[in-house]
Amino acid sequence: MTNQEFLSKHIVERKGTNCMKWDDLTSLYGKEDLLPMWIADTEFSTCDAIVNALHTRVSHGAFGYSVLPKDYISAFSGWMDRHYGLTIEKEWLRLSAGCVGAIALLVNAITEPGDACVIMTPVYYPFHNVVKENGRKLVTCELIYEDGTFHIDYEAFEKAIVENDAKLFIQCSPHNPVGRVWTEDELKKVLSICRKHGVLVISDEIHQDIALWGNRFIPAFSVAEGAYRDIVIVVTSVSKTFNLPGLMHSHVLIPNAELRAKYDALTQRLHCFNTNVLGQVAARAGYLYGDEWHKAFISVIESNYNYMKDTIAARAPEITVCKLEGTFLPLLDLSKVVDPKRMHSFMVDQCGMAVDYGEQFGAGYEGFIRLNIATDPKILADAVERILKAIGK
Ligand SMILES: Cc1ncc(COP(=O)(O)O)c(C=O)c1O
Repeated sequence: MTNQEFLSKHIVERKGTNCMKWDDLTSLYGKEDLLPMWIADTEFSTCDAIVNALHTRVSHGAFGYSVLPKDYISAFSGWMDRHYGLTIEKEWLRLSAGCVGAIALLVNAITEPGDACVIMTPVYYPFHNVVKENGRKLVTCELIYEDGTFHIDYEAFEKAIVENDAKLFIQCSPHNPVGRVWTEDELKKVLSICRKHGVLVISDEIHQDIALWGNRFIPAFSVAEGAYRDIVIVVTSVSKTFNLPGLMHSHVLIPNAELRAKYDALTQRLHCFNTNVLGQVAARAGYLYGDEWHKAFISVIESNYNYMKDTIAARAPEITVCKLEGTFLPLLDLSKVVDPKRMHSFMVDQCGMAVDYGEQFGAGYEGFIRLNIATDPKILADAVERILKAIGK
């Protein structure tokens, strides 16, 4: 499928569909009439196979309590094997209505109140909240920002662990919002530091399938041929892959039986261990039949990013479009053209746009915004032109 074929078939109007991105802007941004470039879903309808599977399931008409489709694990494992050479074992898998909810449950299941949990900032803001709101101590370790891209500061990471006697590291891989697809070497260094200091790892791999330009996503379970599986728990889903977050269906993968027992004890006690039957049906269909759609989706993201980067480089080189290896959520460094203290009014009042602000991801990033580029190229062009016009370019 070419980009043009994908776009002409899959662009959908989301405004007026009770869509969080388009239809509830006043509650977050104080105005309704904004161009929404925030949150992490897309203006694309999902692949036909998923829609057809949902139609078939819905037309049955009965929506009683359900169990996973019998071939669900082989469909999921087949996708992971085809794309990443990883086999998923049935006993690792638990279901959750969302990755963030799963992280919150895990924090409660495998750490104690007051325990220090490390995150690498700037990072997806719910990581901060989940730690703080569950009575754990939040420890941030800054990524190094250099030449429009980000690197891990291993020394600072180890120091943060040791000084705080940290028990948990919440990893984002690929990393939202810095757009890195961590290499095996980077992951190995981080995991070996965690191993050395007895730190458990939750690896949020929800963006696993959004690796661009041949950057290879490495599952944490594959690092060093699986040597870290006993200390790592993965949360993931196909919600970013196929634009399905509203179906509330995610995976928690726990190879270590002791950690799994702790998670099970908590989820049994709270009675939250199942997901939506339609989410299960959709994910299965995507794993089995979604490759072509996914490939075209990746190509559209790459093309959108190239357009934005080239246009901004030509007309406003003072703006840095950060490097993007994965995710569809690049950071833009506007600090040379906008006073960071005025960033909100610049975006909302001057550009008429709803974006995610850098400061949501980490202190010191007030001069940055995060743009969601998994959208109609015309919408992206509108967004880019609004920013350029607002700075007089
Ligand atoms: C890193 C990361 N984790 C989790 C989520 C949300 O996951 P869920 O909707 O399954 O809670 C997002 C959404 O943007 C994300 O970027």
